[in-house]
Amino acid sequence: MPAISASAPGKTILFGEHAVVYGFPAIAVPLPDISLTVIVQALPNQNSIHIVNTDLKEDFLIEEIEKQNPYNSALEVIRKFLKIDHLPAMRITLSSNIPLASGLGSSAAFAVAISKSVTSFLGFRLSLEDLNCIAYEIEKRQHGTPSGIDNTVICYQKPVFFLKDQPVEFINPSKPMTLILANSGIQSLTREAVEQVREKRDRERDLVDDIFYRIGSIANNARPLIEDGDLESIGKLMLENHQLLKELELSLDILDDLVEASMKTGAYGAKLCGSGNGGNVVALVPPEKSDMIKEVLIKKGAYSCLVSTVAPSKGGM
Ligand code: MEV
Repeated sequence: MPAISASAPGKTILFGEHAVVYGFPAIAVPLPDISLTVIVQALPNQNSIHIVNTDLKEDFLIEEIEKQNPYNSALEVIRKFLKIDHLPAMRITLSSNIPLASGLGSSAAFAVAISKSVTSFLGFRLSLEDLNCIAYEIEKRQHGTPSGIDNTVICYQKPVFFLKDQPVEFINPSKPMTLILANSGIQSLTREAVEQVREKRDRERDLVDDIFYRIGSIANNARPLIEDGDLESIGKLMLENHQLLKELELSLDILDDLVEASMKTGAYGAKLCGSGNGGNVVALVPPEKSDMIKEVLIKKGAYSCLVSTVAPSKGGM
């Protein structure tokens, strides 16, 4: 059996994180400049699944790890979806340059890439819809109550306008959008941030629901601006969204500093992205200023910066 390889990109959320978990709209885009790759190879004459993670220097057999481990639970979801009794011996090798626990979709990229590679290794040709369904189940096992936006944007690899439990809608930006992802270097777990927001909502329901409503309205208003290529107005909405995430107590000084420094250096807008409490700031910038803004953000304390451009799709949607 030939080795099968599948890659999945990172993602960033331009509008609507957290509120999306409660049914409000959100907008996310894939980041093709970072990706996670899974290679699956047959292991003839063996009877176990061998996992190798080249970045984390992990190398073990599946029965050596606990059931809740991401590899075990992902393979269990895949096995159940395919309705097969057991998975054959294989070597699964993973490598990635998506920073872990940083709001750029590392866990959803894992879910999508392992689903694609293992199902295809087993001879199944699944639709993107089915792959997304498997990836969402894997995400649920890791994060509890994810909205599904991360696996969806990564699975379809197109900008999405996303509403939980609704058919996915794609957005086609009419102008390229140059983004800088400035990594605070602080890792944060989505499950914990979602739980923190849930607890805040339990204590202050009206306040939090009002913030969610305003975040949802921003995402709704942003969609036509992205389709029209109105970068200045998109930027203003990103800043408003950041302010609301701050009110949800998801920002940190370093994230606010990176947002402020981006704005002072000529970004159209900037905000924290993903679950918050660390991770990345995403700034929408004029392409000719991206090098300068990147330099300033590194001086302000960003651990690293990635520049990525969301291009209009050639054939439309
Ligand atoms: C995490 O990338 C985005 C959150 O809204 C969680 C989710 O949508 O599942 C914080």
